[in-house]
Amino acid sequence: MSRSAHPAGPRHADVLTEGHYSAPPTDLNALDEKVWARTVRRNADGVVTVGGIEVSRLAEEFGTPAYFLDETDFRARCRAWADAFGRDADVFYAGKAFLSRAVVRWLQEEGLNLDVCSGGELTTALDAGMPAERIAFHGNNKSTEEIERAVRVGVGRIVLDSFQEIARVAHIAQSQGKRQRVQIRVTVGVEAHTHEFIATAHEDQKFGIALADGQAAEAVRRALRLDGLELIGIHSHIGSQIFDMAGFEVSARRVVQLLAEVRDEHGVELPEIDLGGGLGIAYTSEDDPREPHEIAKALTEIVTRECESAGLATPRISVEPGRAIVGPTAFTLYEVGTIKPLEGLRTYVSVDGGMSDNIRTALYDAEYSVALVSRTSDAEPMLTRVVGKHCESGDIVVRDAFLPADLAPGDLIAVPATGAYCRSMASNYNHVLRPPVVAVNEDGARVIVRRETEEDLLRLDVG
Ligand code: LLP
Repeated sequence: MSRSAHPAGPRHADVLTEGHYSAPPTDLNALDEKVWARTVRRNADGVVTVGGIEVSRLAEEFGTPAYFLDETDFRARCRAWADAFGRDADVFYAGKAFLSRAVVRWLQEEGLNLDVCSGGELTTALDAGMPAERIAFHGNNKSTEEIERAVRVGVGRIVLDSFQEIARVAHIAQSQGKRQRVQIRVTVGVEAHTHEFIATAHEDQKFGIALADGQAAEAVRRALRLDGLELIGIHSHIGSQIFDMAGFEVSARRVVQLLAEVRDEHGVELPEIDLGGGLGIAYTSEDDPREPHEIAKALTEIVTRECESAGLATPRISVEPGRAIVGPTAFTLYEVGTIKPLEGLRTYVSVDGGMSDNIRTALYDAEYSVALVSRTSDAEPMLTRVVGKHCESGDIVVRDAFLPADLAPGDLIAVPATGAYCRSMASNYNHVLRPPVVAVNEDGARVIVRRETEEDLLRLDVG
């Protein structure tokens, strides 16, 4: 896609492209369980509930917009991943998808590990009591302070992303009299998204050390020489929102080839490989994600087969799902403010949030679903675009959505599958206050991240 040079961002014509929508759904009141959190239902009065609590009650108590996170679903997904991979593998939840202290406690209780990629995520993890040895520390430009702290608290692994970092972490560990467990992140030349993957000799991106031209082999050589480092394995992450296992297959094969080269050159069999995250979820009824047990089976088979053919013992596997755990567990609840029918085009439905609580539509052209949740309706479907309250045309939450034609200001609508990369990428654009995250379980609803206030805004603005 060519980029336009409109001073205020993409031209409207580029943003407001032709719709991706198919025919209107046969029943606008139906909730597809694929895209909604596990305990979401519509009750006899037509009101949607989560954990048995009506969204209208939630809106009254917590306000809108707000993210409602189904704790029961979150925990069930953690268990499904842990059970699928079993004792011989490790599941690291990728905190960048959404992290809070409550989430860290749930992860601990459900036996998961945690991947963090900044000092802020590390602080949240440690403050909530995650044992440091269950934390993996990522990032392509970790600061010296971040590395010093990670080594000092004893994180289970630091994933090295560059030649400079190999030297930096080794030096810091040695100066603290420690030997830090590390993995090297390699770029396998595979970039995978959703339904397809492309393989190139060199990935033109910032992460990792290329397998090509012997660079990763050189990184291993250096890491093995340094006293401050204990090299435990190789890491690869090939993309996000992936449904097709073919990209993982190529990636695993290339990582195992490197393990074989390392054995041949150094007589060392590195004991672990990490295949990263990136497993896709359903944002709309058209998406068809795989279950954790299918993913675990496929990945384990690939690695075992490749290792057998290279004459290597199968290493311990780890994975780092973020979106696949938290994504489906939350929805964003909005109140409809204004409705503008545009003759011959569509109806614009403005809600009380927008690109500050979900940047993914504007940033990635992401697709979402939406439903009227405060009541049912027998009205005809109307083609809408759900937009926010921000001062730009690209402020779109759901690009193409059918909602009932009798939709009115004051109705509550909800966008499912907003657990991942929505609150964690939220902004204060236009000084709009970031919404709270409310966890819901069988005992009720409670705020786990509170709504931002105008005092919060003024506290940062020191005048
Ligand atoms: N491990 C590593 C090293 C990663 O870089 C990522 C995501 C993950 C695991 C978790 O990936 P997941 O399973 O959540 O797809 N903001 C984008 C996604 C960026 C992902 C960055 N890295 C989005 O909203 O789609």
